[in-house]
Order: sequence, then C-alpha cells, then structure tokens
Amino acid sequence: MDYARERLASDFAAHASVLPATNPTTGSKPTIVKDLFDVRGRVAVVTGGFGQLGRQFAATLAERGASVALFDRAGDAARLPDLFGGCASRVHFERADLTVRGEIEGALARVAKRWGVPHVLINNAAIDAPPDAPAAETGPFEGYPLASWQAVLDANLTGAFLASQVVGGAMAEAGRGSIINIGSIYGLVSPDQRIYEYRAADGAPFTKPVAYSVSKSGLLNLTRYLATYWAPRGVRVNTLTFGGVFRDQDPRFLKGYAARVPLGRMAREDEYNGAVLFLASDASSYMTGANLVIDGGWTAW
Ligand SMILES: NC(=O)c1ccc[n+]([C@@H]2O[C@H](COP(=O)([O-])OP(=O)(O)OC[C@H]3O[C@@H](n4cnc5c(N)ncnc54)[C@H](O)[C@@H]3O)[C@@H](O)[C@H]2O)c1
Repeated sequence: MDYARERLASDFAAHASVLPATNPTTGSKPTIVKDLFDVRGRVAVVTGGFGQLGRQFAATLAERGASVALFDRAGDAARLPDLFGGCASRVHFERADLTVRGEIEGALARVAKRWGVPHVLINNAAIDAPPDAPAAETGPFEGYPLASWQAVLDANLTGAFLASQVVGGAMAEAGRGSIINIGSIYGLVSPDQRIYEYRAADGAPFTKPVAYSVSKSGLLNLTRYLATYWAPRGVRVNTLTFGGVFRDQDPRFLKGYAARVPLGRMAREDEYNGAVLFLASDASSYMTGANLVIDGGWTAW
C-alpha cells in the first residue's frame, strides 16, 4: 500500500513538468469533476448538418450552450426555428458543397467572423446509395459505375479531407480543437449482402455498393494521420463508428438487420448523441486517433 502510494507520488512528480497547465482542447484550466461534458461557449461545425443525424448532433450541442454552424449543400435557414426550437438562435446555416474547397473557406470565414474559430468539427456529411438509386448503382460489383464510385468518394472522403484542411487548419492555428469523423460499421467490416436479398423478391435485386464501405474505411486512417499530425497543435481527431439507424425501413429489411445485431434492433436516431458530446467536450481530453464503435454489437459477432 505504502509502496503504491509512493509510486503514485513519484509518477505524478515525474509527469508534473510535462502535464499541460491548461486543457489542450479549450485552453481552459483543467476541471477534475465539475462540468466534464460542458460545451458552453464552444463553436462547432457540423457538415451535413441538415441530415437525419447532423440535426441530432447540432441540437445536442446547441441545447448545451454551444454555437453550431451547419455546413450542408441542402437546407434552408428558415427551417431552423422549427428544427431547433428554443436554441435556434445558436444554430446557423451555411450552404456549402464540401467537395469545393472555396465554398468551405467562405463558410468558415463567415462563421469565424460571427463566433470565432470553431472548437469542434464533425465530418458527418455523406452520401450512400438510396433505395431509388439507378439499377446500375445497386447491381453487381463488376458493373458498378466509375462515376458513382467517384461521387461517393468525393462526398464522403474528399469532403472530410477538405473540411479538415480548412476548418481543422484554423483550429490548429488556434492551438485547440476536436475533429469527429463519422464512420460506419461498413467501414470496419463488409456489408452483409444477405440482409438485402429480400429486394430480389420485389424484382429489384440490390447489392450494397462498395464505394460507401471504402470511403468509411478511408476515414479511419484520415483520423489516425491527422491525430498524430495535429497532436502537437492541440487538435484531437477521432472516429465515431455507427451501426444502422431506424428510418421506417422495409419490415423485411428490419427483420434481417435485427437478426445480425446482438441488441436485436437498429439504433434510434438519438442514440449517438452522448458519444458526440463526449468527443466534443473535455470528457475525452486524452483521446485521439481512436475509433469509438457504437453498433449494438454488430461487429462483436
Ligand atoms: N443513418 C444511418 O443508418 C447511418 C449508419 C452509419 C453511419 N452513418 C453515417 O452518419 C452520417 C450521417 O448520416 P445520415 O443518415 O444523417 O445521412 P443523411 O443523408 O440524412 O444526411 C447527410 C447530409 O449530408 C449532406 N451532404 C451530402 N453530401 C454533401 C456535400 N458534398 N456537401 C455538403 N453536404 C453534403 C446532405 O445534403 C445531407 O443533409 C453519415 O456520415 C453516414 O455515413 C449513418
């Protein structure tokens, strides 16, 4: 016991000189217990912020006192009061195509003028093959169109690369920040094509396309690269890997999906908000380069 105590004291003494006096993400004095998940006063950019999950993340941060800018190529500022209610004054919309660097630069300049350099960037915008995608896009791998491959990689991977360059670069200059890259179980393991087989019965066979998986795998190493590259500048970078979210899918799909998940169901759209708050706040101040998997256990089987 005494030995353990002595050891702790000597470890602490050895580390005292290298421990940062202020929190590397925020520049604030470290807090031990209080306000671990506090994001008040922080500025966040959520790409694809008008989508199903982007809205959830924006509301989670804005409700807790952060100012949130939605960067999306689709959306409408007039809908903000409806979508965000009492915290809509802390949510701002910037129309931007994430595949165009100049559009991200313009959006960031306006946000920085309004609120200052962001503390949090959530690379959330992405495209996937929607159910009504042309047959060629959801057919066999051998005929998957090059143009579809490029469009998905552009939106999902190049978009995150460009947003990280522009917004992450500004954070690095400010000496603090947290980047959250939104991944998918399909970036860790292959899609299970069997859960889409019911589509053949409807005369519209469906192969989950390869581009989405590859784009999400690419994000994992964008995360690791930037985590090590920007660690000396105080910017943390992590991936959040999600399982599928319930959105009124075909009951046959839901049944097949649920059978693949130890928790036996898809996620509710609000079930990733806690992880976003964790990564946006000082609760995760020693975490970088990591991948946090929230998938109901899909990848445990
Ligand atoms: N919904 C799921 O089941 C699920 C599961 C795992 C991971 N994810 C990931 O979560 C994230 C959010 O998914 P979602 O279901 O909310 O998607 P969504 O389609 O509802 O929203 C995506 C948003 O991104 C925007 N966007 C796409 N390309 C863009 C571009 N080039 N420039 C600007 N905006 C662009 C769209 O306009 C849209 O508002 C994605 O990264 C997705 O891959 C979703």
